[in-house]
Amino acid sequence: MNDTLGTFLCPTRIHMGRNAHEKLEEALRGFAAERVFVVADAAVVDGELMQRVRAILARCGARTDTFTEVEPDPSAHTVERAFAACRALDAQLVLAVGGGSTMDVAKAVAILATNGGRIHDYEGIEKFATRPLPRIAIPTTAGTGSEVSGSCVITDTERGLKMSIRHAALNPADVALLDPLAVATLPAHVAAHAGMDAFVHAFESYLSLNANPITDALNLHALELLSANLRPFTANRRNTDAALAMLCGSTLAGMTFGITGLGNVHCMARFVGATFHVSHGLSNAICLPHVARFNLAANPARYARVAAAMGCHVDGLPVLEAAAATIEAIDALCDDLGIPARLSDIGGTPEHYPEMARLCVEAGYNRWNPRHTVFEDFLKLFEDAH
Ligand SMILES: [Fe+2]
Repeated sequence: MNDTLGTFLCPTRIHMGRNAHEKLEEALRGFAAERVFVVADAAVVDGELMQRVRAILARCGARTDTFTEVEPDPSAHTVERAFAACRALDAQLVLAVGGGSTMDVAKAVAILATNGGRIHDYEGIEKFATRPLPRIAIPTTAGTGSEVSGSCVITDTERGLKMSIRHAALNPADVALLDPLAVATLPAHVAAHAGMDAFVHAFESYLSLNANPITDALNLHALELLSANLRPFTANRRNTDAALAMLCGSTLAGMTFGITGLGNVHCMARFVGATFHVSHGLSNAICLPHVARFNLAANPARYARVAAAMGCHVDGLPVLEAAAATIEAIDALCDDLGIPARLSDIGGTPEHYPEMARLCVEAGYNRWNPRHTVFEDFLKLFEDAH
């Protein structure tokens, strides 16, 4: 932990468990919302969960409109279209049923509804001051943790970059419903890649230079839940115990990384995803084993704690041996989940690596990553991952 004052805040009310979606009725009545704008992932809009959600909305007498045109890495244009529909309804509440992209669009719409302007106006930290419309989130991946994180990421296609809109107090959902039913129909590879994203959130947040005792507690339990359940959940998304553990693990990690910052895995994955058009979760999973090896020297004691959280038998081992067990456990996890081992497996091309390494340095993750990393280090990490 830095000398600076540690901080922790999570303003979200979280209901978790089988049929947690039934708490939607109580939440809607609590906000006295008569007009509800729904942002739903197209993949779930015809499924059992949404049927039940629509029945609850009808029971509450809510007028609704549903927006389903959210693409991965959603653009500001998508936010504009969704906001126009939200304004036409004169919505009093925004309900997100989907993964990270869907929840991010819902957050952006809720900000615009009360603050006006364009989403670009709010890029950065605490650039809006008026509380957004109330937001309820039902995550359908486990996941990004967007339901509890203070940020949403919207792509500015004109400038060719991702805008991060952050507000720790005002941007997490007001209510999150963690329900195994919501992830029961995920394709296996999406379950694996999104789950690895959650794992990396917990891993990098725990190792962050900015970690504090409260984020540590949450991240160690997140690592335990995610490590133990990624395999059974990916194998069978209808395993409700595993699904609930994954949802809780991803939410725990989501509560921390906005506070601690992330590390080199997320830094490199940004440019892997953008350059080779690979999903965020898969980009992270491919970079993870290499960054884990690189960072070990910076904090072996924390790696030893991660090994224990991952279920490795490290009691009584010297710290360095216990720390090394983390690397083996990560390799085995990636292997068992069918994560491609190399950037070349997903179309990576070495001529791009110098520019990607330069962008990594510019991105400024040395604020949080435990090992100080320079251009040559990033270049070698990309080349090793190739
Ligand atoms: Fe992530």
